[in-house]
Order: sequence, then C-alpha cells, then structure tokens
Amino acid sequence: MEDQFVLDIEKLLWRGRGLARLDSGQVVIVEPGVLPGEKVRAQIQAHKKDYLQAQAVEILSPSPLRVNHPCAHANQCGGSPFGMVTSQTGLALKKEILIDALTRSLGYDSANKLLSSLMVLPSPKEWRYRWRGQIHVQDHKAHAMAQGSSKLVALQDCLLLAEPLAQAMSALAYDLPDGRHTIAASPDTGQVAHEYDPQCLSFSFSAFDLTIHLPAQVFFQANWDLNQTLVQLVASLVDPFDRVADLFSGAGNFALPLSRLGKNILAVEGSPVALKAGTDNALRLGLDKVRFQQANLSKDSSWSMVRDFAPQSIILDPPRTGAKGIGHHVTAIDSAQRLVWVSCDVINTLRDMQPLLAQGWEIGSMILLDMFPGTWHMEIVLVLDRC
Ligand SMILES: C[S@@+](CC[C@H](N)C(=O)[O-])C[C@H]1O[C@@H](n2cnc3c(N)ncnc32)[C@H](O)[C@@H]1O
Repeated sequence: MEDQFVLDIEKLLWRGRGLARLDSGQVVIVEPGVLPGEKVRAQIQAHKKDYLQAQAVEILSPSPLRVNHPCAHANQCGGSPFGMVTSQTGLALKKEILIDALTRSLGYDSANKLLSSLMVLPSPKEWRYRWRGQIHVQDHKAHAMAQGSSKLVALQDCLLLAEPLAQAMSALAYDLPDGRHTIAASPDTGQVAHEYDPQCLSFSFSAFDLTIHLPAQVFFQANWDLNQTLVQLVASLVDPFDRVADLFSGAGNFALPLSRLGKNILAVEGSPVALKAGTDNALRLGLDKVRFQQANLSKDSSWSMVRDFAPQSIILDPPRTGAKGIGHHVTAIDSAQRLVWVSCDVINTLRDMQPLLAQGWEIGSMILLDMFPGTWHMEIVLVLDRC
C-alpha cells in the first residue's frame, strides 16, 4: 500500500487532528498542524482498527486562516500547534471541535440546545500566559518534546510562558537533572522557582482580596489571568448553596475563595503536597470554614466522607484522564442539587457524566474558556442540576 496520499481536510476533531477520507471512504486522521479546507500531502504513520493515522508532510493549498507562526521553534516543537492561526480563529476552531464532540456524545438535539446558550470566554493574553510549565532537561538545557515524536528540541524561548518564566527558563534548567520538570513563576512578583525549590510563590485572587502561597511543585491553573474569571464564574454558580464539596481541589483554587465568601467547604484532594499547601493557606488566612481532606477519589471508600458532609453543591475538577465511576458516586449523594464540572478533557467528561444523565440530572449550561491559546486544549465548565 502507498504510504503517502493527497488528502482534503474536512474538519478538525478532538486533539486538533484533521479528518480526511481516501477515495475508498477509508477515514484518515491527520496529526495537528492542518486546517479545515486544506489540501495536504500526508504520510501514513499507523494502521489503526477503524482509521489510518497520518502526518502532513506538505500543505499543498493552505487555508486563508493560516498565519505565520510567531515562534522560532514551531517547525520542530509540538507545544503550540494552533499558533498557525490567530487566537480568535483558534477559539472558533475549538468551538467547532466541541460541537462535534457534543453531537457525537449527546445527539444533535441535546447538543444543539446546549450550544444555543454556550458562553465563550477568551484568554486575556494570546501568548505568554502560562505561569507554570514543564520543560525537558538534557545536559542542563531546556527542551520541549518534538511534534509527534519523543525527540527533544532545544529551546531558547517559549511563547506560551509568561515573560519572567521564559527569561528564567535556561537558568532554572541549569540547576535541574535530566528529565521532565515543572517550573513556575508568581504572577504577583515575577519570582521564579523549580519543583525542588522549597520557597513559596504568591498568587492573588483580585476579586476575593485573597493571596495564597504555593511551592512550584503544586498544581495551579497555569493561565492565572483567565483563572480569575474561572473562579468568579464557579463562585457565582454555587452562590445559592452554603455547603459545597470541592472535589479534586488541588491547593484550594475554588475552596479558599469560596471559604472567604463564608461558605462551608469540604475540599478533597489526593496529593499530600497540594493538601498541605491548602491547609497552610487556610490557617494563615484564618479561613476556618474550609476543611481539607486527603483521599483518593478513585476508591469507593473515599466517598463516605463526601456523603457525610451532605453538600448541596459539588465542584468537580478531575485530572485530564477523567474520573471513571464518579457519576455513580455523585448520584448517591442525596443532598446534592447542583454539580459544577470543570474539565480540560471534554471527551472523558462526557463519558464520566453518563450515569448522571441516566439518573435524571440535566446539563443546564456550558461555558468554554480559552485557557490554552496557541494549543488545541480547552477548558469547559458544565453545570448539571438534579431534576
Ligand atoms: C485539574 S487539577 C485541579 C486542581 C484545582 N481544582 C485547581 O483548580 O487548581 C486536578 C487535581 O486532582 C488531583 N487528583 C488526581 N487524581 C486524584 C484522585 N484519584 N483522587 C483525588 N485527587 C486526585 C490532582 O492532584 C490535582 O490536584
């Protein structure tokens, strides 16, 4: 079989991959870097059960949406495949990808109803918005992973990183052993740190008159500017309720501001370092209506503490891999009326919420936040109410 084909890209799918078909009707999924309407020459990389996987090797007729990628590393680095379009176009493409995913999962009518009220929130910054990032260190130098392979690309700069972090990237890498590492900077002070640094960085929530301190190794929402909007949005969605369970709470991104508003919060988190950071901040700030508990929410036994707390509303913000089985646990919490599901993986979330939909919960609204401009990643918030 030939292994190069000329393909017409019909549309983008989840992960920013292009959908194309051979004359025979065989589906070809093309790796990120292509746009709808483009004709490309593509190299077949793998024969999957239902489709062929391919990589574009030449764009034969470029989309008028295409712009020059502003990053000097873009030809090799896989970090910002949506840098080939403006952030406005990128967000429009993400909306199309979301529509496709929702229609496949919920059916045309339900997806359409939900999309008619979709709120879309752009990122305040198109580039240099990340205050936390990962670098691959080799020989004391910063690298990124190459597009579609495990090869490393040496980095002089990264346009995704906030200015102080990009400037410190080489110096931070010099201190680190070979491997993948987290680096972070404070949006308040510009102070930088890597994951082994013990000192804390400060992060303010302007609408809540609140500043928290976190070590670089603890997860926080990298696009801190848009996170301000996310936290205010979540606070408004749980506003009618006093007792709120914040599950997969991290160091308390939602729990601490909500506790500042006077709500009773149970924050549940698996990582001991995130839990310690949340507890330390609550103590330092005198927030005594929030209780942090360490638990692995993949274990059935962890849910009794959530049931005993009797939350009226639950915030769920699981990792990208999702939270299989979570729908069954949430439906068993009789006190819960509203679920605010914060997700960076739409496909896994739609999978995990099926038991809730089967038990009569309804998706009331959905918000798309462009937390990750320049990439195909997106954040969504889904609001489900028990009917
Ligand atoms: C996407 S982060 C969200 C954190 C926080 N809500 C925020 O906005 O900063 C997901 C969190 O879930 C935690 N986590 C992952 N798997 C878990 C599990 N099985 N049980 C409890 N927590 C888990 C991670 O440590 C991480 O802090």
